[in-house]
Amino acid sequence: MSSNPTKHGQNDRVEPYWLPFTANKAYRAAPRVIERADGHYYYTEAGQKLLDSFSGLWCSNLGHNHPKIVEAIQTQAAKIDYSPSFNFGHPAVFELAQVIADQFPGTLDHVFFVNSGSEAADTALKLAIAYHRLRGEGTRTRLIGRVRGYHGVGFGGISVGGMVNNRKFFGSLLPGTDHLSFPYDPVQDAYTRGQPQTDCEPYMDELEALITLHDPSTIAAVIVEPFAGSGGVYIPPAGYLKRLREVTKKHGILLIVDEVITAFGRLGAPNAATLYGVEPDIVTIAKGINNGTVPMGAAVIQKKIYDTFMDSTPAGPEFFHGYTYSGHPLAAAAGLAAQNVFKTEGVFERAQSLIPYFEDAVHSLKGEPHVVDIRNIGLAGGVTIERRDQPADRATPVANHAYANGVYVRNNGDDLAIAPILGFSTTEIDRTIETIRTALRATD
Ligand SMILES: Cc1ncc(COP(=O)(O)O)c(C=O)c1O
Repeated sequence: MSSNPTKHGQNDRVEPYWLPFTANKAYRAAPRVIERADGHYYYTEAGQKLLDSFSGLWCSNLGHNHPKIVEAIQTQAAKIDYSPSFNFGHPAVFELAQVIADQFPGTLDHVFFVNSGSEAADTALKLAIAYHRLRGEGTRTRLIGRVRGYHGVGFGGISVGGMVNNRKFFGSLLPGTDHLSFPYDPVQDAYTRGQPQTDCEPYMDELEALITLHDPSTIAAVIVEPFAGSGGVYIPPAGYLKRLREVTKKHGILLIVDEVITAFGRLGAPNAATLYGVEPDIVTIAKGINNGTVPMGAAVIQKKIYDTFMDSTPAGPEFFHGYTYSGHPLAAAAGLAAQNVFKTEGVFERAQSLIPYFEDAVHSLKGEPHVVDIRNIGLAGGVTIERRDQPADRATPVANHAYANGVYVRNNGDDLAIAPILGFSTTEIDRTIETIRTALRATD
């Protein structure tokens, strides 16, 4: 009999855990184990103090273990651990729905809770198709996304998503999807600060051509992110979202804007819809909703869509969709606490005031070895690192070098992404950028 206490050998405690979106074999050789978090830092089991320059995964906008959020979760856990999401509600979830709806423009006034950004995207796509059917336009089933778009990992999200590795292993995906091209010109738009001023009409002409090709009567919705986050921080031209709204509206097509990253402060504003003065039909949110503390996402829905569902169904559930953990009491309590901190501590305004400093800091990397493009929007930065031969063969060592020197940033392929906690000091911005500079210079 083996003396090993586990199937995998007594020293290999990490083996049974299959990490998501991770090179597992490489991870096993050098496991990164975060033992605790506090404020702007992670602390690893190996004794490292790590500046979190990626806000967890774009979600810990307030930093870690905020005392008000911790207290809210603890109090709620002692009060209601779980409440059924079907046929029941609880006080925190009603209140949070109102607080969220109040932050979105126009008639975006109903909130359908889910547990992640992926579920929010699939929920929004289902809502769009069902909405048209309920209105007697059941031929509108086609869904249009964008190259390099990321809408999570459900079958709906990857079907409209535009990241090749996330799609190619999974068969034929949803039928009847198409994609707009990526609204970024790597030559003309390179090194732009903020939104490129490039003419967005050619992208609208392309959308019009796609709509003509398929016929508007077959198209349910267009879904885009305000900027491609997981796709590497690529920013569409100024006015793109507004024009997309106009063109989709003209053809009776719903516009879904995926604000999983951009809602709750990343752009120095409550959300992109408010910032850009655009009212989508549906907005998807997650991550910052409760500072990434307890899984939660939502679709925020225009009144006309909600009313259509309510008015078309005489009795019984109006939308055959939902999750056991929709509007979970702990997530909702954390959400209320986080939203309260955003408001009372002026977090979005402070983030906005930091944007010019962050922009200068990120763009100071121009001219460093291997850097071929730099982009920024709000408190998000992207630095493209020229590959030697294979995708990410330089960007990954650069991110690893930064990690070894106490700064956590992330690379998506050849693009290094920076997403500071909204409360970063200028010193913490400097430390992030100088650590990346050192890493670039140390990488051949
Ligand atoms: C724009 C966008 N949509 C959806 C998702 C998926 O969110 P989740 O990982 O919570 O499913 C993400 C995650 O990064 C995202 O950035």
